[in-house]
Amino acid sequence: MFFQRCLSFLGFTLLCVKSAYSVEIDREGLPDTGLDTSDWTSRDLPPLDDMWDLNDFQIAAKNTLAPRWYASYRTAALNEVTYQANLDIWSKVRLNGFSFRDVSNVNLNTSILGFNFSAPFFIAPAAKAGHANKSAELSLASAAGKAGLLYVPSISSTKSIEEIADAGLDGQVMFHQEYIWSNRTQLVDELKRMEKAGFKAIFLTVDNTGVNGIRTRSLRFTGSTDEVGHSATFDLEALAELRNLTTLPIVPKGIKTAADARKCMELGFPAIYVSNHGGRVLDGAPTAVEILIDIRRNAPEVFDNMEVYADGGVRRGNHVIMLLALGARAVGLGRSPMFANIYGEEGVSKMIDMMATELTTELKLLGEPDVNNLDASYINIKLVEAMYF
Ligand SMILES: Cc1cc2nc3c(=O)[nH]c(=O)nc-3n(C[C@H](O)[C@H](O)[C@H](O)COP(=O)(O)O)c2cc1C
Repeated sequence: MFFQRCLSFLGFTLLCVKSAYSVEIDREGLPDTGLDTSDWTSRDLPPLDDMWDLNDFQIAAKNTLAPRWYASYRTAALNEVTYQANLDIWSKVRLNGFSFRDVSNVNLNTSILGFNFSAPFFIAPAAKAGHANKSAELSLASAAGKAGLLYVPSISSTKSIEEIADAGLDGQVMFHQEYIWSNRTQLVDELKRMEKAGFKAIFLTVDNTGVNGIRTRSLRFTGSTDEVGHSATFDLEALAELRNLTTLPIVPKGIKTAADARKCMELGFPAIYVSNHGGRVLDGAPTAVEILIDIRRNAPEVFDNMEVYADGGVRRGNHVIMLLALGARAVGLGRSPMFANIYGEEGVSKMIDMMATELTTELKLLGEPDVNNLDASYINIKLVEAMYF
């Protein structure tokens, strides 16, 4: 962004220069925590030391990336009602903070599908990390590996399945995301490659039912909705049958109703992933908080029979706590790692540290030293229930 500085004398303008300093960045209504961008230069990477929370990384990405690439990450469907709801829902939930507890040692370690990780949040699948950084998904894989965190690369990544697997540390556990392509050969081939490359589970995205959402913010740059090649005839039998194509556990991603959660349980899936795809598919779809409440009310047995993961709008440690208290076992971060990746691995590592620090701090303030013990006693959801149920 350019602005003009003018030198005047006795009311006459002597000289005007156009400066490339970016004093004003539209913050899109993100919480104001005092980020000062007045020294930043438009299209230059701001100092990493200026980053104090996950929202800062979004503003830094907006400052740094070409508008079309920022839009490709930030975009959401139609009027972005669900995108915004994902960010707003947290203010309608209350946490019950208990005193008189020993919180001197906080534990964030947990397991996801039986594999051990250092924290109950993970890097969710997001396409084309290469628009933010040349290292693309490789820096996400290695930052996650060094932190002991789960990373689940997208099948629409910049780097190949094998390149991402190679970027992992020895013994690092990664899962891989897959779409239900209408091209069966492609689907079978990719599942085989994921298995061979050492990925331990598949997050199978079931919410792009043949199409992507209409994402106006990015359409302005791309011109048209791409032909995505997702199957539009995919039903429950097809879902069950897919399990014959791989020995890896399959986790349906994009569950938005208690009814679908129950169906997945009845089919014997080991886990489900509650998500509205960051507001990028069905606009008007509920947030993860609402979907988890729906499952608690209408299919509570799901939580006893399978693991439940969730995402959408998670930017703070207390957001992770809210979803875990509602029954999620682990929580995904979609846009934040992509934005942090403008700094490459160093940025992603800093983002992970921030989230872990926030989570540890909030747990202490909540009076619960073990992240695995969070339950409904820590949360008040009456306002959300009154609004939507
Ligand atoms: C740029 C971008 C690309 C995405 N690509 C995929 C994808 O390829 N497959 C998928 O299942 N979900 C994809 N998602 C959805 C994320 O996995 C996740 O559900 C969502 O981003 C979480 O919301 P958040 O961005 O508010 O954290 C993408 C999201 C973004 C922002």
